[in-house]
Amino acid sequence: MFVGILFLVSLLAALNYAQETGFVYNGFRSANLSLDGIAEITSSGLLKLTNDTTQKKGHAFHPDPVRFKNLPNGSVFSFSTTFVFAIQPPYPNLSSHGLAFVVAPQRGLPWSRANQFLGMFNETCNGNSSNHVFGVELDTVLSFKFQDIDNNHIGIDLNGLRSAVSTSAGYYKDDGGFNNLSLISGQAMQVWVDYDDTAKLINVALAPINVQKPKTPLLSFMQDLSPIINENMYVGFSSSTGLHRTSHFVLGWSFSVNGEAQALALSRLPKFPQIGKKEMSNVLTIGLPLMVLFVVLMLILSVVYVIRRKRKMAEVLEDWERDYGPHRFKYRDLYIATKGFRDQELLGTGGFGRVYRGILLTSSTEIAVKRVSHESRQGMREFVAEIISIGRLRHRNLVSLLGYCRRKRELLLVYDYMPNGSLNKYLYNQPKVTLSWMQRFRVIKGVASGLLYLHEGWEQVVIHRDIKASNILLDAEFNGRLGDFGLARLYDHGTDPQTTHVAGTFGYLAPEHMRTGKATTSTDVFAFGAFLLEVACGRRPIEHGDTEGVILVDWVFSCWDGGDILQARDPRLGAGFVEEEMKLVLKLGLMCSHSNSLMRPSMRQVLQYLEGDLPMLELLSTGISFNGLTIAHGEGFDDLTMSRPSSLGKAGTDLSSVAESVLSGGR
Ligand SMILES: *[C@@H]1O[C@H](CO)[C@@H](O)[C@H](O)[C@H]1NC(C)=O
Ligand SMILES: *[C@@H]1O[C@H](CO)[C@@H](O)[C@H](O)[C@H]1NC(C)=O
Ligand SMILES: *[C@@H]1O[C@H](CO)[C@@H](O)[C@H](O)[C@H]1NC(C)=O
Ligand SMILES: *[C@@H]1O[C@H](CO)[C@@H](O)[C@H](O)[C@H]1NC(C)=O
Ligand SMILES: *[C@@H]1O[C@H](CO)[C@@H](O)[C@H](O)[C@H]1NC(C)=O
Ligand SMILES: *[C@@H]1O[C@H](CO)[C@@H](O)[C@H](O)[C@H]1NC(C)=O
Ligand SMILES: *[C@@H]1O[C@H](CO)[C@@H](O)[C@H](O)[C@H]1NC(C)=O
Repeated sequence: MFVGILFLVSLLAALNYAQETGFVYNGFRSANLSLDGIAEITSSGLLKLTNDTTQKKGHAFHPDPVRFKNLPNGSVFSFSTTFVFAIQPPYPNLSSHGLAFVVAPQRGLPWSRANQFLGMFNETCNGNSSNHVFGVELDTVLSFKFQDIDNNHIGIDLNGLRSAVSTSAGYYKDDGGFNNLSLISGQAMQVWVDYDDTAKLINVALAPINVQKPKTPLLSFMQDLSPIINENMYVGFSSSTGLHRTSHFVLGWSFSVNGEAQALALSRLPKFPQIGKKEMSNVLTIGLPLMVLFVVLMLILSVVYVIRRKRKMAEVLEDWERDYGPHRFKYRDLYIATKGFRDQELLGTGGFGRVYRGILLTSSTEIAVKRVSHESRQGMREFVAEIISIGRLRHRNLVSLLGYCRRKRELLLVYDYMPNGSLNKYLYNQPKVTLSWMQRFRVIKGVASGLLYLHEGWEQVVIHRDIKASNILLDAEFNGRLGDFGLARLYDHGTDPQTTHVAGTFGYLAPEHMRTGKATTSTDVFAFGAFLLEVACGRRPIEHGDTEGVILVDWVFSCWDGGDILQARDPRLGAGFVEEEMKLVLKLGLMCSHSNSLMRPSMRQVLQYLEGDLPMLELLSTGISFNGLTIAHGEGFDDLTMSRPSSLGKAGTDLSSVAESVLSGGR
């Protein structure tokens, strides 16, 4: 009975003592470890056993003793521990000493030495069985004194550094293969140490972090730890540096008596700083090629950009154009001036191309750029030559051509910019602004003097061929300026003009020009006549009425014929006009529109009439007829019969009397 109770009590006691105890540190931020030497806990929670100081030791122990036995001479409980460590050497192949998991009777191992002693023993006590120190060393230096196998091994130390058993670092994969590991790789690795008291077996395993605990341990050593481990012991880590500075880190640690150590929460472990040589080589091996790739890519992109831009800005420049250097514009400059030919800069679209407004960057002068598309290179040389000649014309009633630029399939003409645009927008289509009579008369006189300059004032005769209100531009002071020399022809004074294609605008074309194809000063005068009537009447030369086209010249003629030529005036003027001037312009318009070119005045005479230097009476005879609808009469002075459609009831009238009446202001 008594024996039975004793047995029960001792069994209970044994059960009580065999209870599982342990701890786990997933990082050491809030841990209360007992540190000494140069060991420290970093702000990120790493246990840093040695910092960058040479020949020093560092210790870190769990603060409270662990009970390993029931009785001083009893057997040791089974225990289990696992920890994650990393060794950061100054150079990839150079390190100093190592670290060890230790079970020791004292926390600090105060008599121990640094260097090869790993902070565990000293020369005199090394190997003495009175030490009672158990350790698992991770040694990175080969010490012949302790019969080390290499400089990268794991060993089991019992009271001394001559390991009871040791092997090169590595791990058995579960498929049977073996992987070497380098302790000084700077990579975090996990160690498992398990002591099974029933089998008296010590198992040590090692694996890279994130690799499961290997089924086959790296070291398996049969040893009863009872003589070594005392009743109450301290567990912790010891580490030392030698001639080279090396950092030994522990990232997490779990320990348990009578049970397997709790698994570490790897994701919660503090991040291990990758610094020094290792990081440098990362920069070199990954960063540098990336940077090179980036630079190469940027280079290719910029080359492509430059080529594309060059192509976009490409011009056509041939040898014969060298003489025209000063008149030649760079496409790039025009492109910048017109802000890339933006639609907002578009001034107008004509039959020959689009006109853009621009500001030259170099001189900040305002320009108008006309883009004329041309398909063939034929005649281009002559055309450019004429353009350049015309560019040399200088008169205050001409729009100056500043130069040109030539591209594939395109010609760009650069003109002075006329802020008030073309005259036609002030005349018809319900204009927002109409010009006063004074302004109109000034425009007429200006254009006449510009045209006279073209016909007589220059080294060659210049036939404009396209005089009409839309080609008259107004400068800032509302002076009329003749523009658009796109159809202009040049020939020497005293020679006969060449036959050309009939060109111009319908309504302004002289009948003989349509017949013979010859453009003369007189055909310009004819167009000028149409222009005079346009300005005075505020109507187009040919207007499309409800039933049929209204021919302006015929209508003015019929007004004159009806006895009141002033009836033809632009009604928008109201009473704001000078009667004499209005009559003069209307009649001069009729005169210039004579179907017989010889009957038309020259521009010199036109100007004299306008200036009042030549009384209208002096012109003795004229005839009026519009090219399209009336029968053009002969070209000699003899045939002065006025040929009007019979509807006017004037056929056969003696022209001289008619003309006299017209010019003397009768009817
Ligand atoms: C290493 O630790 C010791 C003790 O904590 C300290 O005095 C020393 O400055 C540290 N050295 C470096 C390089 O951090
Ligand atoms: C840390 O451990 C020491 C030694 O066991 C003890 O004296 C101290 O009170 C502990 N501190 C904390 C905050 O737990
Ligand atoms: C253990 O020690 C006690 C006294 O300290 C002794 O009585 C006992 O016989 C010892 N047992 C063994 C197995 O050595
Ligand atoms: C370390 O490696 C370099 C080459 O990487 C070698 O030249 C040097 O001898 C090595 N040092 C040691 C101590 O192995
Ligand atoms: C070595 O360590 C032992 C204790 O482990 C101590 O008694 C002894 O004095 C130490 N010797 C030296 C030289 O430090
Ligand atoms: C072991 O250490 C003890 C106590 O420090 C000492 O008495 C003994 O002589 C040492 N044995 C050897 C072999 O050094
Ligand atoms: C692993 O290490 C051992 C000893 O250092 C060596 O003999 C073996 O060739 C290594 N194996 C591999 C795959 O590197």
